[in-house]
Amino acid sequence: MNDLLSLKKAFLVEINAVSDITGLQQLRAKYTGRKGLITAQLKALSAVPPEERPLFGKAVNDLKVYVDQIMYRKDQSLKDAEQQKRLQAEKIDITLPGKPSLSGRFHPLNRVLQEIKDIFVSMGFGIEEGPEVELDYYNFEALNIPRHHPARDMQDTFYVSDDVVLRTHTSPVQVRVMEKQRPPLKIIAPGKVYRCDADISHTPMFHQVEGLMVDSGISFSDLKGLLELFVHSFFGKDTPVRFRPSYFPFTEPSAEVDIGCIFCSGKGCRVCKTTGWLEVMGCGMVNPKVFEMSGYEPDAFTGFAFGMGVERLTMLKYAIDDIRLFYENDLRFLRQF
Ligand code: DAH
Repeated sequence: MNDLLSLKKAFLVEINAVSDITGLQQLRAKYTGRKGLITAQLKALSAVPPEERPLFGKAVNDLKVYVDQIMYRKDQSLKDAEQQKRLQAEKIDITLPGKPSLSGRFHPLNRVLQEIKDIFVSMGFGIEEGPEVELDYYNFEALNIPRHHPARDMQDTFYVSDDVVLRTHTSPVQVRVMEKQRPPLKIIAPGKVYRCDADISHTPMFHQVEGLMVDSGISFSDLKGLLELFVHSFFGKDTPVRFRPSYFPFTEPSAEVDIGCIFCSGKGCRVCKTTGWLEVMGCGMVNPKVFEMSGYEPDAFTGFAFGMGVERLTMLKYAIDDIRLFYENDLRFLRQF
């Protein structure tokens, strides 16, 4: 019995010193394993006098149950501690600021193009498209610009062959639409155009939006009213607008639309070449010759047309001084929109 008591004391001292699972396993082997100290006591039971056997047997058994229990608890607390340690190591600080994910955005030209479309669509215009590789006929001839007409010099054309060009403007869409549809007509035609030209205000490819409205009784005042409304929606309602006589083979009369210089408020500066005005688009009443070539009766209808450059409008709206910025894909530029 004394042996059992010192066994118990020794065990308690030892288990207190155990700090990991391996230590516990060793302790288990030492006391309750096959060759353990308590197991040895059980085996020694036969050597105990028969009258003491039940009492001693019970004492050994109790000790084994006690030791098992203590070891079980130690096992639990060691596992708990281990888990705590792991959780601590894996801990993340949810209060740290996140890494922002970059989101895309529209290119400034597409933004402005969308804005232009929205304004005209809100006024009842439909949207039409035409080919960028265009027949000379639609790009020039049907717009009253015959082969050797000096007006062809205004546009530095990329020729694909004698009869095929990269369209130099979106005006050919006018003719293509009139060939297919009868008046009343109210369309805009946005798209890419090409000219052999490159400097601070020209790129070989750029964008235009063409407009065409045809019906019986359309007048120049309709043209003025509509384009004034457009300019005021696009640049702001206090923007001064003027119509200046000009020349285009496909319109008669023709005009250039100017807005009061947004850089100097009309006082005169480098951008407006001291005139106080900036040119924003061309327009005019559709030349009866164009109607005729498109299959419309020139006596029955009148209409107006206009054409504007998307790059130019964007540059004016956002005070951008070099057209090449649009095509360099420099994020420092693009992120500003
Ligand atoms: N096509 C002309 C150009 O590229 C712009 C233009 C002027 C279009 C007058 C028109 C217009 O429809 O009526 O310079």
